[in-house]
Amino acid sequence: MKIEFVAKKLKDIKADLELIVVVDKNFDHDLVKEYKTVLKDAGFSAEQDEAILLPESKKLFVGSESLRAKDIRPAVATALRSILGKNYKTIKLASYLSHTKCTATLRALAEAIVLGTYEYTRYKSKKENSKLEKVFISSQEYNAKEIDKDVAKRAIDKGIEVAQSVNLTRDIVNTPPDDFYPKIMARVAKDIAKNEDLEIKVLNRSEIAEQKMNALLAVAKASTHAPRVIHVSYKPKNPKAVVSLIGKGLTYDSGGLSLKPSDFMVTMKADKSGGSAVLGIMQAVSRLKLPIEVHGFIGAVENMIGGNAYKPDDVLIAKNGKTIEVRNTDAEGRLVLADVLCYAQQEVDANYIIDMATLTGACVVGLGHYTTGVMGNNQKIIDKMLYAANTASGEMAAQLPFNRYLNKTLKSSIADICNISNTRYGGAITAGLFLSNFIEEKNRQKWLHLDIAGPAFVEHEWGENPHGASGAGVRAVTRFIEKLSTSKGEHY
Ligand code: BES
Ligand code: ZN
Ligand code: ZN
Repeated sequence: MKIEFVAKKLKDIKADLELIVVVDKNFDHDLVKEYKTVLKDAGFSAEQDEAILLPESKKLFVGSESLRAKDIRPAVATALRSILGKNYKTIKLASYLSHTKCTATLRALAEAIVLGTYEYTRYKSKKENSKLEKVFISSQEYNAKEIDKDVAKRAIDKGIEVAQSVNLTRDIVNTPPDDFYPKIMARVAKDIAKNEDLEIKVLNRSEIAEQKMNALLAVAKASTHAPRVIHVSYKPKNPKAVVSLIGKGLTYDSGGLSLKPSDFMVTMKADKSGGSAVLGIMQAVSRLKLPIEVHGFIGAVENMIGGNAYKPDDVLIAKNGKTIEVRNTDAEGRLVLADVLCYAQQEVDANYIIDMATLTGACVVGLGHYTTGVMGNNQKIIDKMLYAANTASGEMAAQLPFNRYLNKTLKSSIADICNISNTRYGGAITAGLFLSNFIEEKNRQKWLHLDIAGPAFVEHEWGENPHGASGAGVRAVTRFIEKLSTSKGEHY
């Protein structure tokens, strides 16, 4: 599916259908007023994301609360999804700007088109792929605001690049676990590295053992698929900052001997969402040619059961020498991340260290299915991440604050730390605090932890996210990195 920005009036563009975003609920806008009666008679009230197709007039209307990206994006995505099964091959729509010269809404339009029309059809024997081939965005602005053609094109192209990277992440996460295990994750990472001209290094089981990543190896023990640690790097000339991304790549999480109940095991192919987001971001930063050096580290592991499985009661020695008492083998993500965080800090001296993981069910309980939990020791970079996510990217994020009392709940009487807390409450925060024990003192202020357990997998479609993997984290973190390229402040 292609998107083309056309420097022509809407009426001069030929297309099967015209999409009109309705912001004015009185239907008095020039593009809408002609249809006022029909729309009213049909009971259309232009609520956010409410869509109506008038096939005879070849018009598709959708309501949006405002002209801001955060409202236009889900509206356009939902409207397009509503006609995907139909025969329309081409669609046209106006440009939308919320403020003169602000291209955020244009970029959001492109994102909405690419993200909203995403389909995962690899395992359908009868492919009912959408007929939609092309979307034309006219230079005619909804409120006749002036548009600079080149600036508009650039904004749209950025939206396309980032959204395609989100879809890459979605494809990876959606792939079933028997077809996507650590070795395949490494292969996919190599393909991306080749396409994007990135450096890549993959550690196999014995190389992981040489690195003393024993916590990761314990999680991997009972799987027939050996683990991999993947390091991809994007190194532009004269970078303005260095960022390390660390992703949880559990290609399947059965819970291990602390086995998940069957209902909770379904969707656990999505436990590789953090690592998969890292790959999407690597592609995005490279396509956007950002002047920031970015390193992606992924711990690709499968958590299974078997006679050789690691057990509750085991004590593991992590890469940094800390001993961990295992009290629940389903709290495996933090064990994998602990070692990969240590490895990432050993390999790269970064200004920012950001880990991404579907780490806890508690985060979903606390924040719901739509919002990423952001944790760390440095309020300034937490605020930067919240700003990048919530104001521009199309994702939602909220802070979960650390405190010293929750930290104490991780104490072990026989080892340095337990892999679970002694209280059932605050589980997303205690998981984050566990990870903070594997951050070197000099890096404390540089580190952010993103728990994407809520938004990573979509069971009931919302906004620009159809059922399945959402690619959570790709847009938010790419925005964060984009903003580093223009930020005036000192880096950490
Ligand atoms: N991968 C899960 C977390 C998860 C749950 C992600 C639901 C997405 C949706 C993680 O490995 C896990 O099982 N965490 C446990 C931790 C507990 C044992 C302390 C959890 O959240 O129940
Ligand atoms: Zn688990
Ligand atoms: Zn897990």
